[in-house]
Amino acid sequence: MSKNKVHIFDTTLRDGEQVPGCKLNTEQKIVIAQHLDTLGVDVIEAGFPVSSPGDFKSVVEISKIVKNAIVCGLTRANKKDIEIAAEALSFAKRPRIHTGIGTSDSHIIHKFNSTQEQILERAFQAVQYAKKYVEDVEFYAEDAGRTDNEYLARVCEQVIKAGATVLNIPDTTGYCLPEEYGQKIKYLKENVKGIDNVILSCHCHNDLGLATANAISGVVNGARQIECTINGIGERAGNTALEEVVMILKQHPYLNLDTSINTKLLYSTSQLVREKMGMIVQPNKAIVGENAFAHSSGIHQDGVIKNRETYEIMNPEDVGVNESSIVLTARSGRAALAYRAKNVGYNLTKIELDSIYPKFLQFADQNKEVNDTALHILMETNRIQSNIHI
Ligand code: KIV
Ligand code: ZN
Repeated sequence: MSKNKVHIFDTTLRDGEQVPGCKLNTEQKIVIAQHLDTLGVDVIEAGFPVSSPGDFKSVVEISKIVKNAIVCGLTRANKKDIEIAAEALSFAKRPRIHTGIGTSDSHIIHKFNSTQEQILERAFQAVQYAKKYVEDVEFYAEDAGRTDNEYLARVCEQVIKAGATVLNIPDTTGYCLPEEYGQKIKYLKENVKGIDNVILSCHCHNDLGLATANAISGVVNGARQIECTINGIGERAGNTALEEVVMILKQHPYLNLDTSINTKLLYSTSQLVREKMGMIVQPNKAIVGENAFAHSSGIHQDGVIKNRETYEIMNPEDVGVNESSIVLTARSGRAALAYRAKNVGYNLTKIELDSIYPKFLQFADQNKEVNDTALHILMETNRIQSNIHI
């Protein structure tokens, strides 16, 4: 395995599905899991088996059909959760148990009414118990983002001794700044015995809009797994968006970090998740939003028509979007009008363009957008001849 490969751990079906209103049934989860496997994710977190009989069944069925990816089930740090997850994963070709516990003072004192030493022991016991069932055990230190680095390093060292293969460092509340999160990963890399034998994982929430930046800072500082969701869905403001981190690494080759994702499937996977979850994708969403490759102001349109790269830093085809779009609005210039008119069959001469442009602006001022039908009507009422002959 290349040292520069960043593993993509998809948690759309677990953290993503925690979003109110996004609940999926087993059949819907299977369809999404199959797509994620084809997309090339390394790990599919299929659910939290102890949480409900439905989630248990989904993890069982997903385990049966996934061909390539590791299938993972979430647990808390207790025997019952671990036993049930192990049972749900029993059909998986490559099973992983993801167990863990809160490590910040806030979790230790208020959630568990416990002490740092007792939490260390529980973390160790949970990993050791999970290892009885599967070889691959990932440990999460919940709220690691707000956990003191020295104590976090002790927790990591303990769970490595217990046999953990992956250490997840979640910024559960989305509080960290990218520099701070990156430094946390670097600190662990430099101060935890045995750290080079495990994979460090970034799990970042988006409460301050920094989930993607934090995950990238994590891998730049030595982490080699990113936990993320399609369209960035997840608790509260969501998780790191899979499509964003994958394209950031692809578009910045000098970072020398790559993933196994087939990027041409990003848009269709985003649409599938949108449809199954009934959760709209904001139009200005990076990579997969409807406006991600749409140009509407005259200055930008002119630039893109002359050379796409003037205003686009990636090729839409690389993410599965057929082409960039030139949207006609009252902010569009002559170049855009000529371009779109040509697309629908009118090769305008300079004289025709000069005469129709003011009429186009009048129409566009009264409408949000000028679509192909409106464009035809505009041409015909102004007696411009189509060069498409039927
Ligand atoms: O955000 C978080 O800390 C989590 C853990 C359960 C991994 O989702
Ligand atoms: Zn989370």
